[in-house]
Amino acid sequence: MTLDWLAAPGAALRGTIAVPGDKSVSHRAVMLAAIAEGSSRISGFLEGEDTRATARILAQLGVRIDVPGPSERLVHGVGLHGLVGTEEDLDCGNAGTGMRLLTGLLAGQRFSSRLVGDASLSARPMGRVIGPLRAMGATIDACAQGFPPLIIHMSKGLHAIDFQPPVASAQIKSAILLAGLYARGETIVREIQPTRDYTERMLAAFGWPIEFAPGLVRLKGGQRLTAMDVEVPADFSSAAFFLVAASVIPGSDLSIRGVGMNPRRTGLLTALRLMGADISEESRAVRGGEAVADLRVRYAPLHGIRVPASLVPDMIDEFPALFVAAALAKGTTRIDGAAELRVKESDRLAVMAKALSSLGACIVETPDGAIIEGGALHGGEVESHGDHRIAMSLSIAGQMAAGDVRIADCANVDTSFPGFVALASGIGFGLKAA
Ligand code: S3P
Repeated sequence: MTLDWLAAPGAALRGTIAVPGDKSVSHRAVMLAAIAEGSSRISGFLEGEDTRATARILAQLGVRIDVPGPSERLVHGVGLHGLVGTEEDLDCGNAGTGMRLLTGLLAGQRFSSRLVGDASLSARPMGRVIGPLRAMGATIDACAQGFPPLIIHMSKGLHAIDFQPPVASAQIKSAILLAGLYARGETIVREIQPTRDYTERMLAAFGWPIEFAPGLVRLKGGQRLTAMDVEVPADFSSAAFFLVAASVIPGSDLSIRGVGMNPRRTGLLTALRLMGADISEESRAVRGGEAVADLRVRYAPLHGIRVPASLVPDMIDEFPALFVAAALAKGTTRIDGAAELRVKESDRLAVMAKALSSLGACIVETPDGAIIEGGALHGGEVESHGDHRIAMSLSIAGQMAAGDVRIADCANVDTSFPGFVALASGIGFGLKAA
């Protein structure tokens, strides 16, 4: 049985909310804390299925992880060489980040592991991490076309590489860096476009000597990580749905507290402002080494833009929400250089184009983007394809459609944003389980 949602126009969005902790930071925090020396306390940990799957896998590998309270973890690190192998499958669920980063981490271990995932993850490309990890000396088997399950064989020793991933991907970069911790020599990753740098920043904070600048990172293997406390900021990608929703729903005035503002994540803010959005940053601060801000968003009429290609990596997870903003804006929005969207939890270009077209939007899908003509939406039945960000984005479309929008297959919203329906309906969304 799948979970469907029913979205319909609600009220203007008003009030102050907090969204859950950052998914990318939560994955990395629990992984690095696991192989650090000493105990690390993580606060603001995302209680989503993706990040809980990563924590569960680390526990299967012998790491004691206590849960002192909701969104808190006390991780008793086992040191760089302290993980213990298991015969059991390691189930990453829906999480691409979990699987790709763990593949890097496991590539250097003196035991074999088998990583599995759900149907969506089992159709996502892993060759992009397997290739460079094999070049470092890892032995990894995958199914045809590099799909999971992955068998990562006992390491016979890794050596460093100097590598430029063919696509801008923080997951590829991070997998190589995590393997690089176990490699002889200096691992270097050169990026064609800079991507989120949480792995680099957190390795430095855990005491690993590392040099990094946008687009370039180098580290030497064989050092040590020292436990620390990590404060996870609220996830910009979860805030993004409300930034778009409050921008398009007349009368809205909404504040979102403590949102992570790492510049490699906030491309949507730039894009929405170019479209005419009214979003202000209030009480900027640095928490746990990451910039955070309260964001206040007020309704403003949006117009179409040509999304600068340079922004694509900085808003890679926000395109489903941007599609909705563009479909409701005045004029044309053009997206290029975003072919990576085809290999996310779903083919986000095809799925968003199809869903919004069936609600009356005028969208032409291109190989690496879309041309979206803004206008009015009507009600209908749409498919999220089990993709959390598609489901949440379509629920925004439902707020502005002339009839009810039924969204199929929304259970996976729990992978990144447990409690979305309650939070959204509490501030004015017309949204409920169907
Ligand atoms: C992530 C990187 C991005 C992003 C994903 C999380 C990460 O993927 O889409 O949701 O935490 O490193 P790619 O690196 O494959 O672009």
